[in-house]
Amino acid sequence: MSINAMMLKEIKDAAIQIQEGELVGFPTETVYGLGADATSDGAVTKIFTTKGRPRFNPLIIHVTSIEEARQYGVFSKVALDIAHHFWPGPLTLILPRTTECPISWLATAGLSTIALRVPDHPIANELIKRANRPIAAPSANRSGKISPTRAEDVINEFRNKVETVLDGGNCQVGLESTVLDISGSKTVLLRPGYITQCDIENKIGPINKTIDNAKIIAPGMLESHYAPDCKVRLNVISSENGELFLGFGENSKNTTLNLSVTGNLNEAASNLFQMLRELDGRGASAIAIAPIPEHGLGIAINDRLKRAAAPR
Ligand code: TXA
Ligand code: MG
Repeated sequence: MSINAMMLKEIKDAAIQIQEGELVGFPTETVYGLGADATSDGAVTKIFTTKGRPRFNPLIIHVTSIEEARQYGVFSKVALDIAHHFWPGPLTLILPRTTECPISWLATAGLSTIALRVPDHPIANELIKRANRPIAAPSANRSGKISPTRAEDVINEFRNKVETVLDGGNCQVGLESTVLDISGSKTVLLRPGYITQCDIENKIGPINKTIDNAKIIAPGMLESHYAPDCKVRLNVISSENGELFLGFGENSKNTTLNLSVTGNLNEAASNLFQMLRELDGRGASAIAIAPIPEHGLGIAINDRLKRAAAPR
């Protein structure tokens, strides 16, 4: 995707909004973010209040290069290797905060660590460059709700509350970034995503899989999340009365929608949030969802589905 003159003008205006402490919705390769000046307590506070997000849940700081990231996070040799290999891309690294780090303490929820990511999207990167500062951005949904993969999702979510939403069309990946905690002696996968445990281990050797207390380390990993308004039932072969059926693969029969008729996990991931939104909007009692294979990107899809179905 290249940026035309009209989009460049919109990005420049949005960058001024960021500098003035306002919120801007913008696309990344994963999902849309709700961005603000990461160095401003006031701007960061707006993110928490607008999303209804608990203050203890820290934000990801978006930058455009490793050099920039090194001003905010302490990179070990392994962390540098990973960053060189996967950035720009859908991977967030949790690192110790540098002592001179100018990022708002509210953004990192007072923790001694910081979440950093270089997105792989021309609009996101141009916005960060033009704003000339790091951008704190959670997914642009109300806290606990489905993440947005289209500009209209963000507009519908925050009507009147967010003036500027940059439109980059559909997000390519469709699931939030993989979160890897590499701040301590053990490397831990806190949130599965497009970049899989296998991809990371191929680069740096064995890591710890999601640990039991990951919830405490990544306060955002609350049990119920990505939740539609209606109920969600998982691993369903055929739906019951009144349920809408979200299928996967050619064996799913009588589906309302199908995540991927050919059983392609990339396609399923990029369709997931949009299809959940659409089915939720039809006002049914429940959404029944076909089994998704637990390998590769299926692990991240099942992680989101478990949270969508969790007791509220
Ligand atoms: O793909 C993405 O990551 C998107 C786009 C916009 O970049 N952003 C996103 O942000 O998903 P959010 O806020 O929805 O998820 C950030 C996750 C949360 O689970 C949060 O708890 C965790 O990252 N996190 C942030 N800082 C952390 C830290 N210092 N230690 C552990 N977990 C952290
Ligand atoms: Mg989120």
